[in-house]
Amino acid sequence: MNQAGVKHNTIKTHSLTDRLVIRRPDDWHVHLRDGDMLKSVVNYTARQFARAIVMPNLPSPITTAKAAEEYRARIVKAVASDIDFQPLMTCYLTDAIDANEVALGFDKGIFSACKLYPANATTNSSHGVTDIKKIYPVLEVMQRIGMPLLVHGEVTDSDIDIFDREAVFIERTMSKITANFPALKVVFEHITTADAVAFVEESGPLVGATITPHHLDFNRNAMFQGGIKPHYYCLPVAKREVHRLALRRAVTSGSAKFFLGTDSAPHTVGAKESACGCAGIFNAPYALESYVQVFEEEGKLENFEAFASENGPKFYGLPMNSEHIVLERQDTNVPSDMDAAGAQVIPYRANEVLRWQFKGPEATVA
Ligand code: DOR
Ligand code: ZN
Repeated sequence: MNQAGVKHNTIKTHSLTDRLVIRRPDDWHVHLRDGDMLKSVVNYTARQFARAIVMPNLPSPITTAKAAEEYRARIVKAVASDIDFQPLMTCYLTDAIDANEVALGFDKGIFSACKLYPANATTNSSHGVTDIKKIYPVLEVMQRIGMPLLVHGEVTDSDIDIFDREAVFIERTMSKITANFPALKVVFEHITTADAVAFVEESGPLVGATITPHHLDFNRNAMFQGGIKPHYYCLPVAKREVHRLALRRAVTSGSAKFFLGTDSAPHTVGAKESACGCAGIFNAPYALESYVQVFEEEGKLENFEAFASENGPKFYGLPMNSEHIVLERQDTNVPSDMDAAGAQVIPYRANEVLRWQFKGPEATVA
């Protein structure tokens, strides 16, 4: 049992592989924040991943190409000089978003995609979209220019149970987006249900999904095991075991529709351990170690590289990374806390032992 009292997954097939050399992966969904928090967390992502799709939900959301360019410059400045890392910027969609601004930003190579937050679905989403129809003109333009739409797929209605919000979103909104914009590239972000897995599998090749390590590792019990456990709270919230198992099958299946997106979302310990705690799990420091363990447990290590390093670039139409990284079967002790922004953040799987270790770029590993 781990810290949350969640039963460990057993290894289904014992693999003799002790060392994996794979193409350097990318993180297709991360929150890097800004200011001191950005400086504290960005190198955890940059050390493991060549590129990352950076989410735009800052307190003042990124809605213009100029704001994205300036944010990108702050990110690049915060990355250690010996690390090669490319942030890929996204535009936060609002009811009033300017389609020309979006298209211009994409054309100039500043925006890689747009992010749809239903208004008030999650952290800093109050400027999000109140009615999908309001952004149809923008979706039209994005479809035409080949710009991907990244979707936080949850309804926000108070009469819909929080555990049903993703499934209801598929029915009410996602199915309409894909039906009305059949040539639009859509990423269903951080999916958490068997319903979303089925929707993505049944859709055409322009619909893909990211899946986080935490939704592969624990079900909703983890939030309540022996007391309220704020460090297991994120949005979309973890669901029942049957859903976790569907996600594990999807990521390890070898399907090109599913790719790595950590949704690493740091909040200080005080913001998490509060009467109104923030949603988000800070998994960046040991992201690859967490994911690879799932593939090992499922006896599917051979499909790890496609999920981590190939499916994402193929979907986005970007080149794959040419450098390689090394992971070895060696215990990694996850610390209880880490310093960030003058406070502490609690890393995902704090105080646990992970079975793999990220060793760095192949060129630098003996
Ligand atoms: O848990 C989450 N945290 N889910 C999100 O959608 C946003 C994120 C954050 O920015 O904190
Ligand atoms: Zn996110």
